[in-house]
Amino acid sequence: MLHLRVACALAVALAALAAVSPCVAHDGDCQQLLETFPDFAEGRLAPRPGEQNEGARVEPDFYFFLHIPRSAGRTLNFCLMKAVFHPKDRCFSSYGEGSQHDDEEGGPGVVDPATRTVEIDRGPLDALGHPCRFAGTHDDLSVLRSVRKAPGRSNSNMAVFTQLRDPVDRALSAYEFTVRTASRYFHRPPDQNSRKNANKTATNDVWPWIDLIPIVQEDMRRRHAERKARERAGIPDADAWVRHFDAMDSSRVTYYNRAANSTDEVPPPGAKVLPDLDPYDNEVVMPLSEFVRLPEVRQVIHNNQAYQILGATNISGEHALSRRVRSCAGGEAFDLAVVERAKGVLDRLWHVSVFEDLEGSISSLMRASGWDLGQRGYRNGEKIVRDLGLKVKALEERARDKVAELDLELDGNKRDLIEQHKLVSLYEYDPDRQAELKDAKAAIGRLEARALTIEGKRVKAAALRVEEEWVQDDFGMPEDRPSVREVFDQCVDRARSKREEKNKIRFMGAVRDTWGRQILWDRSKIAVSTIEEIKRMNRIDTLVYEHAKHLHETCSTP
Ligand SMILES: *[C@@H]1O[C@H](CO)[C@@H](O)[C@H](O)[C@H]1NC(C)=O
Ligand SMILES: *[C@@H]1O[C@H](CO)[C@@H](O)[C@H](O)[C@H]1NC(C)=O
Ligand SMILES: *[C@@H]1O[C@H](CO)[C@@H](O)[C@H](O)[C@H]1NC(C)=O
Repeated sequence: MLHLRVACALAVALAALAAVSPCVAHDGDCQQLLETFPDFAEGRLAPRPGEQNEGARVEPDFYFFLHIPRSAGRTLNFCLMKAVFHPKDRCFSSYGEGSQHDDEEGGPGVVDPATRTVEIDRGPLDALGHPCRFAGTHDDLSVLRSVRKAPGRSNSNMAVFTQLRDPVDRALSAYEFTVRTASRYFHRPPDQNSRKNANKTATNDVWPWIDLIPIVQEDMRRRHAERKARERAGIPDADAWVRHFDAMDSSRVTYYNRAANSTDEVPPPGAKVLPDLDPYDNEVVMPLSEFVRLPEVRQVIHNNQAYQILGATNISGEHALSRRVRSCAGGEAFDLAVVERAKGVLDRLWHVSVFEDLEGSISSLMRASGWDLGQRGYRNGEKIVRDLGLKVKALEERARDKVAELDLELDGNKRDLIEQHKLVSLYEYDPDRQAELKDAKAAIGRLEARALTIEGKRVKAAALRVEEEWVQDDFGMPEDRPSVREVFDQCVDRARSKREEKNKIRFMGAVRDTWGRQILWDRSKIAVSTIEEIKRMNRIDTLVYEHAKHLHETCSTP
């Protein structure tokens, strides 16, 4: 643990300058805790592409995308990987829902911590001994422990890749996303928040949003009730006009007056026009500065890029240890040690990219993995997985029927055997029945041989055999397959434009103050002190992100 010592020495030096003791007992315990915290990457990772000899390239047995929420992981996981991996090779957990799914973050690999199954490597052809090869989830690194050895797959040769984001931007995005999503479910009773279709995973069922949305939603309801109560007592400036913005083009402004419920290009002469709402600090939704200080946000957002990379989030497989690690954060030496640990993991991962350079991230991931944006892409994933599911089910049913039929035959055979054995014991000492005795013994020999034959058939029938065609690369694919690039671009376009437009219009329509003022996000309006505070609360992530950026820059130059 050289890096720990370096970190500690550094901390001691820093502390000496500041004339405080870095070695309070608490901090010492914390340091020790980190040393005993498991290294989930150890012994599980495939050699990094750059460290393999040209020509002697070893294909990883399993690919895992560690999807950090609000880091454009959806684009990579859902749009890019969907085009790169055949649907049969994609694990269910990374697949989940599909094109109709209208949640921004819901798509791939989502887990509800309460009900999640820890196995991320279930696939459509499991029953046939063809394990899936790609999963992407919001889990942290501890989930690698749950990847099983499957036929034709080891769990020590995994390509794990991830994408990080500037922690301040990520926290802001988490705020906006939580508020937007909370408002979407605002008018539904809380118990109906959850998925209508149990097979789909809705945004609010997903860690970490599952922990945050209800809080913001509850706050929104309270503010709404208070506003209504105030309005009953009379509305000041009831005839004031406010500016309204076009959801798609905020430079297009109209004026709105609630009393008359009318919209106009310009307010009437002499009318009172209220200033716009501060989008991050108003009475309609929880202000940003309050959100970022919530203990829950500390728990699941701040510094959670590092915790996810370490396997120390609050959905870690090492729940108790992880909680202790997180509660140690804040001490200078400890934070630096965590940073070093996380950097050490990043250094060993298959690929690390950053949100801020999506195009560069994609091309460098493709290059590193030996893939090509020009290669033929996969599509129709949903349908193929469904088809395969039906085929496997039919196969299983046929096998079950055949086995049941053979079991009946075996039973009959057994009864016949018992019958013959009875005859043998009956005639054995009867000198007059020696001919019958001989017949019975011969029958036993025949029946025993038959039993063996039936059992052989039974074993064969129970073993499901995959049809050659199903595991072919072009199974279910159209004749003229588009390139990965084309599938990806289409997916991003569709995912982005339609859904975001709809959500934005809905949000700006639904979330308004007494006079009808909307919330229009504009990050330049955030108080500098709030940005500084978020930065301070993400000290670990800031340094880990810097390292990711460095790795990205070295990787993305060919
Ligand atoms: C969910 O999946 C199960 C099994 O895969 C299926 O039987 C069921 O019809 C699906 N439910 C819906 C609402 O699609
Ligand atoms: C205000 O006007 C719009 C149409 O311009 C209408 O849909 C809405 O119901 C009206 N609201 C009220 C409170 O009258
Ligand atoms: C994770 O933290 C959130 C926020 O504090 C909490 O609501 C949730 O129950 C925690 N999850 C687990 C699995 O402990």
